[in-house]
This record gives sequence, C-alpha cells and structure tokens, in this order.
Amino acid sequence: MATPVTEPEAVRVRVAGKVNLALRSGHRRADGYHPLATVFQAVSVFDEVEATWAEPGTFTVRMLGEQAALVPEGDDNLAVKAARLLATTWGAGRPLGAELVVRKSIPVSGGMAGGSADAAGALLACAVLWDIDISPDELRVLGARLGADVPFCLAGGTALGTGRGDELAPVLSRGSYHWVLAFSAGELSTPAVFGKFDELGLGTDPLEVPAEMLNALVSGDAQALSRCLVNDLEPAALALRPELARIVEAGTEHGALGSVISGSGPTVAFLAANESAAVDLSVRLSSEGLCRAVKRVSGPVPGARLVV
Ligand code: C5P
Repeated sequence: MATPVTEPEAVRVRVAGKVNLALRSGHRRADGYHPLATVFQAVSVFDEVEATWAEPGTFTVRMLGEQAALVPEGDDNLAVKAARLLATTWGAGRPLGAELVVRKSIPVSGGMAGGSADAAGALLACAVLWDIDISPDELRVLGARLGADVPFCLAGGTALGTGRGDELAPVLSRGSYHWVLAFSAGELSTPAVFGKFDELGLGTDPLEVPAEMLNALVSGDAQALSRCLVNDLEPAALALRPELARIVEAGTEHGALGSVISGSGPTVAFLAANESAAVDLSVRLSSEGLCRAVKRVSGPVPGARLVV
C-alpha cells in the first residue's frame, strides 16, 4: 500500500553539539581526510530537527534561528542530503518525501558539528516518520557517509573517535562538566583549517589521546581534565583567526581551569571548576565584548533523541 502523503504526523528530534576534549591529527591521507584520534563530548547546546511528510521525492528544509541565513536551504543542506540518502538506501522503493525544519542553536561553522548534528537529527526524524526499520548501528554507518562527525552526533555522550573521527568507542566518564563557550562573530571552514594545518607541516605521529585524559574522565576530575585538553588544529585555527588568542587569554584571566578550541574552531570552550564558577566566568567573558555570544553548557549529554 502506498504511504499516505497527507499524513499529518510530525517527528521532532533534539541533537547536541560537541566539544573535542582532545583532537590529535595525523598527516593528510590520499582521500583528503586526516587520520584522527579524538575525544568527543556532547554538550548542552541543541538543534531541533522536525520532519513532516511531503510529496514523494520532495525533500526540503527551512532553517530557523539567529544564524539561519548562513546555511543554504537547497540540496546541499546536510539535513536534506540525510533525508534523501535514507530514502534512497533504506526506503525500499516507497514513495517517500519530507519537509524539514531546523531550529539552530549550535553555531554555524563553529567547530561544534552543527551541520553534522542536523544530518543526524534528520536521519533519526525521517527514520521514525517513515517507519524505517534501521538499527542505531546501521544509522551510524549511514551517517558516516554524510560527514565524519555524524556518527558521534547520533551517539552523544563521551566517545573516542578514530579513523576520520567516525569510528567510535565509548569512553567512561563520571559526573558533569561545566563549560563556557565563546561563540565568535565569524565562521571557520573545516577544510580551510585542515588546509592551513597541512601548509604549516603539522601532524602528530603516533596518534594518541592523553592517557591522563581518560583517567580524569573516569574519576570526574575537572582539574585533571583541564590540564590535558589538546587540539592539534589550534595553531592552524589561530593562524587564520589570530584574534582567538585574545579570547583564550581573557577566559584564562577570568578564572577558567583550561581552554580548548573546539574542533576546527572558532568556538573556544572554557572548562570551569563547577557551575557557579561557570556563571562567574560567563558574566566576565561577556562583559569583555570579544565574542558574538557566550553560553554556559554542560556535558556529557545524549546524542540525537526524539522529543515527545
Ligand atoms: O566529514 P566532513 O564533511 O564533516 O569533513 C569536512 C572536511 O573537513 C573534509 O572535506 C576535510 O577537508 C576535512 N576533514 C579532514 N579530516 C577529517 C575530518 C574532516 O581533513 N578527519
């Protein structure tokens, strides 16, 4: 029986952004990607993806939120690509279509997997909308075809990523960490940052995340974690956006335990000792007027989840 295209049902999914607590990168591979060893933590800044039925073969998106205008709404939109990919690979020839609405809070091109989060949200929302029998593992494999961070956005929590960052293993983490995120006024393109990384001749070998980090996470020790935050892409991000150094300095002056540029930047994540320290830090950092916005978040939080 054909799927009723007038089905009024809407499915909403909430999906978190991420911070890379450690990001070690090797030299560029022949396929253009860089081998990574990274520790992801999902943090409480969320995009919401809503999917409703559309005419068969129709896949559209509407972007909402402060930075919505920065994301194209055509076929290149990652959420649209995700819906289309799911329909063509798992749709079993059914007449599927979806109208998506994305409410964005994760910064656009901010190093927090905003685009990948929307792809992850669209995959889950459409799988439920279309009643597709796909397992979480199968969804992650499909997600990796859309972007290296999509599997983590589906999974959430705290995880070790290897390969392109898309091969995940869970990391034991106790307690909750309090972060202050400094959202920069501009964007940074991930390929441009990796390009600068190559130009600077950077690349870690062997690729290892600090053992002290895994110990710190198991024991829930924010102080110890702050001492081993590391991002090999930082010199490249700073070369492209030198003003980030001032933001890092300001957060440190105002009491952060440690800081790290998230992914390819330009978001800077400051780790605070506890919630009240994070409140103080966010107020002080805001008053400096160095960034577009300052946001307090905590992690780890779950990955893509249905909103009921
Ligand atoms: O996988 P995704 O499309 O999100 O990656 C965006 C770009 O970031 C890639 O095209 C590549 O230039 C760069 N990248 C990389 N190595 C990785 C992940 C991303 O060079 N492991």
